[in-house]
Formats: sequence, structure tokens, C-alpha cells
Amino acid sequence: MDMQEQLRKIQEEAAASLEAVSDKAGLDALRLKLLGKKGDLTMLLRSMGQLPADMRPKAGQMINEVREKLTAQLDALDSKIKKLEQEKKLAREAIDVTEPRKHTPLGSMHPVSLVQDQLIDVFTGMGFDVVEGPEVEYDHYNFELLNLPKNHPARDAQDTFYIEDNIVLRTHTSPVQARTMLTRKPPIRIVCPGRVYRADEVDATHSPVFHQMEGLVIDEDVTMADLKGTLDAFAKALYGDDVTTRFRPSFFPFTEPSAEVDLTCVNCHGKGCRVCKGTGWIEVLGAGMVNPKVLDMCGIDSKKYRGFAFGVGLERIVMLRYGITDMRALYEGDVRFLSQFRED
Ligand code: DAH
Repeated sequence: MDMQEQLRKIQEEAAASLEAVSDKAGLDALRLKLLGKKGDLTMLLRSMGQLPADMRPKAGQMINEVREKLTAQLDALDSKIKKLEQEKKLAREAIDVTEPRKHTPLGSMHPVSLVQDQLIDVFTGMGFDVVEGPEVEYDHYNFELLNLPKNHPARDAQDTFYIEDNIVLRTHTSPVQARTMLTRKPPIRIVCPGRVYRADEVDATHSPVFHQMEGLVIDEDVTMADLKGTLDAFAKALYGDDVTTRFRPSFFPFTEPSAEVDLTCVNCHGKGCRVCKGTGWIEVLGAGMVNPKVLDMCGIDSKKYRGFAFGVGLERIVMLRYGITDMRALYEGDVRFLSQFRED
């Protein structure tokens, strides 16, 4: 076969292969086969030594022309393949913005959050501000300023987690009262929701972490009647108009006088049942007139101002509200339980 014939054949075969190749790997292989070190054209170039010397320049020129032609064809195919691959990639990644979305189930508010928000609504409606304080608290605010000096027997009632000698996990939300009195001037009207801690064993009615909401009002002429009226409004807003409050004498170092406050049993409306142990009343909070000693320690002139305060445990309210008998249900995070509180 003479050289011209061979070149024609190479080109013919190349044309067929160029038709057949459709991806990058095929193209690379073809480029190697035609133009590589051991490729068809290189081989042909090498065999040129056998030609008579006067034919060599012509042959070299012909081979180079074919090389240029093939290179151009391969390059053209290369851009075509790149373009195709880009198009395929775009098609794969295309987003149909009109496609209906998959159903994503909504979460629900935790019942403690629901009740907390509702209480905040009731109290902000009566002109109270919401104030929060730290959960890791100084002994000074948690006890000292609330008239619970070191070695006071009432400290025992609050099984305290100590971080350091003078730093505790707050045992109630009352320290936020003290902090607020020290930083604000009367009149003061605040509620302080938040988490509190006590070293209690977990059972159906106890948990080492639970929630309270503290209330504090300070003004020149605040009386126990205002406390009663406020708590009555709170009870009715929460459980309905037929619910009232009953005060029983009690003791807290930070209030004088102090009261335990009962609500009409929400289960039997006062008739007496298992929930209220037949009394018709359920105990839900502690309250009283702020002890003048506390006012003075917190920089408020007890001759000019008076105040009332209350502290309510949120878990108890939640349990009564939804008829939950075991507090642990509130903390286990069982979605089947929690999803019952979805409000949609
Ligand atoms: N801090 C009390 C407790 O955790 C609850 C309490 C009672 C708060 C009477 C008050 C109050 O503000 O006046 O047991």
C-alpha cells in the first residue's frame, strides 16, 4: 500500500470512529490511537525513512496536513462532547419550581411553653413586663436578699444544687425579683418565667428541673386585695369564670404576711373529687406581701413602697389543664404525646 493509500485509510477509519465516539474517555482513546506516540500517523511518519529521499518532503507535508485535519476534527468533537455533558448536568440538576412540595410534618409547642406563653399573655395584658434572670445564680440573690440568710432553716426546704460555695442553680424564680428591685425604680410590675432546679428524685409529681413564674408588683399603695384581685383574674383567664382563689395563711421568709393560694378544683368545679382529694380546692401557688426587710435590702424604701409577690409552678398548671397525671410525660420527649398539643 502506498503512503497516499494508507493516509486515506487512516482518515476513513478516523471518520467512522469520530462518528461513533460520544464521551470524553472514547475521545481520549481515539486521540491516542491516531496521534499518540504509537499512533497510526506517528507510525507512518517513522516509516518515511524507507521512501526515496526526493519523495520524503512531499510525504511529510501530506502527513502533516492529515495530522492538522484530524487534530481539528478531534478538537471539534471535544467541544461538542463538553457541551453535551454540560447540558446533561444542567438537565440532571434542574429544579422544577412548580413541583408541589413534599409534606413536612410540623412540630408542636411543648405544653409547658403553651401555658407559659398563655400566662405571659394574661399578665402582660394587666400591664406586667416580662423579666428573665440567670439559672446559675449567686447565693446572694437566690437566698440572702430574699431574707434567707446562711443557716436559715427554710433553706433546707429547697434542696439546692451547689456549683460553688456561693453559686447555686437557682431553686426558684424569686431571685429575679431581687435583681429587678435593685435595678428598677417603682412602680414595678413584672413576671419572671424560667427554669428552676432542686435535688428531687424523679417521680410522678417531682423533677429536678421544672418551671416557675414569679410575679412582683411594687407601688406606693399596693395591698393584699390587689394581690387577690390579680390572682383571681389569672385563675379565671386560665381556667374559666367559675374558678376563684382561696388564700390560706403560710410562711415564706420573703413575704409577710404569706399565703398558699388554692384554686377551685378545675376537675370537679369545687364539688370534691379524686384530683382535689375531696376538698374542692387545689393548691397552685405561694404568695404574699413583700417583706419590708426584702424591700430595704434591695434598695426600695419600705416606708414609702409596698409590694406583693407570687410564685407559681408551671408543671402543676399544665398537668391540671390537660389532665396529665404523670409529670415525666412532660420531659420524655415522646412525639406521640407531644403532638397532641398541636394547635393548628
Ligand atoms: N419562691 C417560692 C418557691 O419556690 C414560691 C413563692 C412563694 C414565690 C411566695 C413568691 C412568693 O414570690 O411570694 O417555693
